[in-house]
Amino acid sequence: MRIDIITAVPELLAGPFDHSIINRARQKGIVDIRIHNLRDYATDKHKSVDDYPFSGGGGMVMTIEPIDRALSALRSELAYDEVIYTSPDGELFSQKLANRLSCLNNIIILCGHYKGIDQRVRDHLITKEISIGDYVLTGGELAAAVMVDAIVRLIPGAMSDEESALTDSFQDDLLAPPLYTRPAEYKGWRVPDILLSGNDREIENWKLEESIERTKKLRPDLLKD
Ligand code: ADE
Repeated sequence: MRIDIITAVPELLAGPFDHSIINRARQKGIVDIRIHNLRDYATDKHKSVDDYPFSGGGGMVMTIEPIDRALSALRSELAYDEVIYTSPDGELFSQKLANRLSCLNNIIILCGHYKGIDQRVRDHLITKEISIGDYVLTGGELAAAVMVDAIVRLIPGAMSDEESALTDSFQDDLLAPPLYTRPAEYKGWRVPDILLSGNDREIENWKLEESIERTKKLRPDLLKD
């Protein structure tokens, strides 16, 4: 999978993809993540990517020209399945959406910034808007990092069996069961006896029951359907 991220603040994306599972996936060639500096597509001497809104009021608006140029440059080299704009107005990101996006070949993520973006970008140049939650970030870079992390780990081969995405919280609309490791007892707090029993079938039943109980208690909304 190829993921191209267009941002006016590439420094914000310098670290998140260089560690752990995502970095390993990159090294294995499972995903190719490329960060593009939007300012490289600005033509004025200040490399500006924003301007005052026609409507007046405070705040700057990202201009369409550098974005169009960046998208055209990428599209002239490769066909993209989605051009995603990160925005608090977008479809709420979820495990289901991460699953769907992880099945695509090539995507572009355009990071929003400042107060907003020229509406014509949203009307004509992108295919999807995604929000990572009902709160407003200063820019879309952290949202892009969250989405890429959630998507890449689902691509076949990105994770070993032990790390398997199939046992994730949300993967089947249930939270994951509790986990324990050694020591079996710490300060009098004991690991549940069932986990020390060696009875695999009973342990599997226990895990499912715990998942259901935990979901009922912490996220009953997931059980609605
Ligand atoms: N940009 C600002 N806030 C955002 C959010 N909640 N999700 C995605 N992009 C954003």
